[in-house]
Amino acid sequence: MTTTPAQPQPSAARKKSWAEPFKIKSVELLKTTTEDERRAAIAAAGFNTFLLPSQDVYIDLLTDSGVSAMSDHQWAAMMLGDEAYAGSRNFYEMEATIREVYGYRHVVPTHQGRGAEHLLSRSLIKPGDYVPGNMYFTTTRLHQELAGGTFVDVIIDEAHDPQNTHPFKGNVDLAKLEALRREVGAEKIPYVCIATAVNMAGGQPISLQNLREVRDWCTEHDIMLVHDMTRVAENAWFIKQREEGQQHRSVAEIVRDICDLTDTATMSAKKDALVNIGGFLATNNDRLYDKACGFVVVFEGLHTYGGLAGRDMAALAVGIRESVDDDHIAARVGQVEYLGHLLEDAGVPIVQPIGGHAVFLDARRILPHLTQDHFPAQALAAALYVDSGVRAMERGAVSAGRDPVTGENRLPRLELVRLTIPRRVYTQAHMDVTAESVIAVMEQAESIRGLRFTYEPEMLRFFMGRFEEI
Ligand code: F0G
Repeated sequence: MTTTPAQPQPSAARKKSWAEPFKIKSVELLKTTTEDERRAAIAAAGFNTFLLPSQDVYIDLLTDSGVSAMSDHQWAAMMLGDEAYAGSRNFYEMEATIREVYGYRHVVPTHQGRGAEHLLSRSLIKPGDYVPGNMYFTTTRLHQELAGGTFVDVIIDEAHDPQNTHPFKGNVDLAKLEALRREVGAEKIPYVCIATAVNMAGGQPISLQNLREVRDWCTEHDIMLVHDMTRVAENAWFIKQREEGQQHRSVAEIVRDICDLTDTATMSAKKDALVNIGGFLATNNDRLYDKACGFVVVFEGLHTYGGLAGRDMAALAVGIRESVDDDHIAARVGQVEYLGHLLEDAGVPIVQPIGGHAVFLDARRILPHLTQDHFPAQALAAALYVDSGVRAMERGAVSAGRDPVTGENRLPRLELVRLTIPRRVYTQAHMDVTAESVIAVMEQAESIRGLRFTYEPEMLRFFMGRFEEI
């Protein structure tokens, strides 16, 4: 790659800041705590940030899920909730919005993303099947396994290297996909599942070009292409920034292109779509729709509410439209990048490039004295909480769990702490405090001790597992 020599740029002298495209109408007061209180709280929580009461948290970067600030339009829509058991007006509005913005024909509402994953996995996977995907997500893979399937990671190798700066680390390696088909046969692959803005890789996008290639491969082999569209707008933003020929297009147009290349989608609307609860399965496949309708009434609720109140669906319809607005998404990803750049400038090892929903700390490099079976990312998240009351989430060996066949710990190459930024919630000053705390913790990294389980749940152990210091 050639680099352009620096040219004198008169306009570069003028710093151009940007600000959020909203102002604050209502605030939620936060409690500050002392370091002694936080030490006691994290010990009581078994060194698991999931087990901290939120009252003891100052800046909550555990997740971007269900923690967005809704707009005045969303709150107003909630007052128009039609709480009918069957055929709520809000369902039809939501369905029409999903058809218009995302383009999928059928919509089955669910209480959140994993509800949709459950319906999808039960409807399509038979025991002995394989489900390729661009890196695993915890609940997605578990639902595939519970249905008798085996997840196969077909993401490009670059995605497993935190320092690699590939612009589309969410891309699928077509050779891996083809190798799987040759090994097991297309009839054992009920669908390919691609996520946009791949969470576990660090919020990394898939390119339109790569998605088209996956589409063609699926069409050639008559295999359904499923889209985990939880963070599709953030992915579209990166395409607009990074993919040739996409700069002049709107996020909404790119989102629609992504959806049009896929047959079916699962959505956790608690992320991109700016609601506190909600999700859906959407599909263009009539048979899948029929099957999912059969399951939704058993596991979620009637097919016109799927575990949601009418007001939840009303807020979701508005949230979907707000989520694909260019100004919104520019500020959203801009804030994540602001935090990432503060850390980069201080020499903190983070996953490159900075992702769409979070900054991921590379715990292996921050705590080189801890081996992975002593859960460095879990220990780092606990230390960060003690330092400042900032709550982050482990995304490493604890999250990866055990291999269902061998029972051994899965040790992923990515051993990360995720600083996940809720949408429209925190200010730049909160990001400054967070960065200062991460830097302070890194400076005393040698004093951080490894952890071992005192209680290890069988499934999704990261949620409720408890640890002690070694
Ligand atoms: N898919 C992706 C990519 C996700 O990030 C999540 C949730 C889900 C599916 C499941 O959706 O939580 O609504 O049931 N991710 C959250 C997180 C929990 O913190 O990353 P859900």
